Amino acid sequence: MNLLYSLLPLLFLCICRAVDPLGQFCNEDTNIGSNSKISANIDNLLAEVVTKAASTAYIATSYGNDPDEVYGLAQCRGDVSSKDCSSCIQDAAKQIRERCPNQADARIWYDFCFLRYNKVNFIGEVDTSLGILYRNVDNVTDPENFNPQLGALMDKIRSEAVMPENEGLGKGKTKLSPFVTLYALVQCTRDLSQIDCAQCLAIAVGNFPNFCINSKGCRVLYSSCYVRYELYPFFFPLDPNDTSSATTEVMVLYP
Ligand SMILES: *[C@@H]1O[C@H](CO)[C@@H](O)[C@H](O)[C@H]1NC(C)=O
Ligand SMILES: *[C@@H]1O[C@H](CO)[C@@H](O)[C@H](O)[C@H]1NC(C)=O
Repeated sequence: MNLLYSLLPLLFLCICRAVDPLGQFCNEDTNIGSNSKISANIDNLLAEVVTKAASTAYIATSYGNDPDEVYGLAQCRGDVSSKDCSSCIQDAAKQIRERCPNQADARIWYDFCFLRYNKVNFIGEVDTSLGILYRNVDNVTDPENFNPQLGALMDKIRSEAVMPENEGLGKGKTKLSPFVTLYALVQCTRDLSQIDCAQCLAIAVGNFPNFCINSKGCRVLYSSCYVRYELYPFFFPLDPNDTSSATTEVMVLYP
């Protein structure tokens, strides 16, 4: 496993909203080469994704005909406003083509949205083959108390996420002390079945005992699901009574 570390102050992410993505993947095994049909299909697909995802916060679609058909999926985090969603997906569509100009399989992750396309139909399939993981470098001071509370909150919101009416989203908070609240959010892409969603979230949360161990905050972003917890409010509506904010985080990307 090839780990790539870099320091990334969260403040930067929050202020610069016309933002850098959290990560991207350009599959070098899927070079388009001189096939301009695929390129054109990707551009048309992205135009459709940007237009339609604005109203539904989610789209899974395809464009073109065999053998140059391309499949695409875009989804926003379920708690963000349609305005933020729309601008996130616009950024994603623009950036993914700049960053992966020559690949038929490309993915881009932001905090508010995720976008991918591929020549191979991936829709409806769980994919945890590559993940972007962030952890806060600060550790909790009372892991014996913290970890069970984190586990309980995660269990609760994971079970919410797989209920059809929640469209893959689960979020919640637990007061750990009068001054400290734990916030967590999980989300699956909406093309997944309940069982596949549960599986993706289980794999994501499976990183907690190793990568995230005792950290004050952690994020796992896969192509099929997103999991995050923090000791400060990060999902909408923001908790007006809690002004805690993030400290420095370390980003780890793998494989
Ligand atoms: C947090 O814990 C990890 C692993 O237990 C350790 O490597 C790291 O240095 C700790 N961080 C701080 C800021 O003490
Ligand atoms: C904020 O605090 C006030 C007063 O204690 C309380 O009534 C309100 O429900 C709290 N809001 C949230 C979102 O927790």
